Amino acid sequence: MRAVDLIRKKRDGGTHTAEELRFLIQGYVAGRIPDYQMAAWAMAVYFRGMTDEETAYLTQELVASGETVDLSPIAGVKVDKHSTGGVGDTTTLVLGPLVASAGVPVAKMSGRGLGHTGGTIDKLESIPGFTTELTPQQFVDQVNRIKLAVVGQSAKLTPADKLLYALRDVTATVESIPLIASSVMSKKIAAGADAIVLDVKTGEGAFMREEADAFALARAMVAIGERLGRRTVAVVSDMSQPLGYAVGNALEVREAIDTLAGRGPADLTELCLVLGAHMLVLAGAAPDLEAARAILTRNIETGAALEAFRRFVAAQGGDARIVDEPDRLPQAAHQIPVLAPKRGYVSRVAAREVGECAMLLGAGRETKESAIDLAVGVVLRKKVGDRVEAGEPLAVIHANRPDVDAVAARLVRAFAISDEPAFPPPLVRGRVT
Ligand code: URA
Ligand code: CA
Repeated sequence: MRAVDLIRKKRDGGTHTAEELRFLIQGYVAGRIPDYQMAAWAMAVYFRGMTDEETAYLTQELVASGETVDLSPIAGVKVDKHSTGGVGDTTTLVLGPLVASAGVPVAKMSGRGLGHTGGTIDKLESIPGFTTELTPQQFVDQVNRIKLAVVGQSAKLTPADKLLYALRDVTATVESIPLIASSVMSKKIAAGADAIVLDVKTGEGAFMREEADAFALARAMVAIGERLGRRTVAVVSDMSQPLGYAVGNALEVREAIDTLAGRGPADLTELCLVLGAHMLVLAGAAPDLEAARAILTRNIETGAALEAFRRFVAAQGGDARIVDEPDRLPQAAHQIPVLAPKRGYVSRVAAREVGECAMLLGAGRETKESAIDLAVGVVLRKKVGDRVEAGEPLAVIHANRPDVDAVAARLVRAFAISDEPAFPPPLVRGRVT
């Protein structure tokens, strides 16, 4: 087999066999196939696409390139959850304890934030003392003991994906549905999931801005899951405006506590109930979505979900007093409101812009090497559909430097205010099962 023949085959619209994909991925990781051939192949895939079968084979090869996590010492069905990345997307912080409180094991590997989107590991590290570095044995023991543990992504999983993603990033080949789908699913499967719930975001703050593309990605990922024996459900949800009100690491931990205590934002609460209900059903902990939702709602009302969060924080070395005294979380020195220039109805809160404002304040990374400030960020006061008076705060900037004029000017432009009543975008656009 020669790489050049496989590039030509894909260029001309052919379909790869499992052996051909193995040759390409193994050859690339071993350094036998150079970047320029892999880049040409990725571009051919970008234009020609891949069948569901090819995409599943590719995923298998990405998984096989590295170590895999064995979660079999953990009792029960291990359901993982993955979001394609959003602004103020606090769902994992809520879902972990919420689902664990229903007795379903959550053994989660999470990532750090990049660009305008945040990452769960950064958020958790804003809790004083919290560590996301557990040994594999500590990880398994903790899930068996309290049903929940969250660790950073191991560098040893899916090395082929890391190489290929870095190459795609600089060759304009990221935006290929089969390549994205296999990349995401390879990481979930390598991390040991039995079943997977995907939250595919759509809207201007999302990776997939167009709803049709988000559904196509959702379908591609569900197809991979089914072919590789992992029951997979995808929910397509709105990311045209940020989720909840808080955008920033410690600010989102506070919002997660509020949500687990039953006083969180309506959209964040609803999305967590929808995703959590799917997780319970896949785990066999409830017969249907309605029954699952009832369990989760009750666990918020009784305080069981918040208690699960408290146990989780303590188990990973964090100061659990933050649950009752959130002022113990890092706090920014300055709180600067951003005021509405006129009265009317909020018709847009551009998620990407708000995420970039939070990043400029120091809450997010411009590059993988950037240091971040866990205290800073943006807290929205108004969301799409809300009435606002001139001079009323639209949002509050939490900053550790007094001069935030440029960020404030940009944040105000993220809002559109119309004279006519506006309506919030539907949160859940659909599901793929
Ligand atoms: N996120 C991933 O993990 N992989 C991609 O290819 C794109 C986004
Ligand atoms: Ca939020």
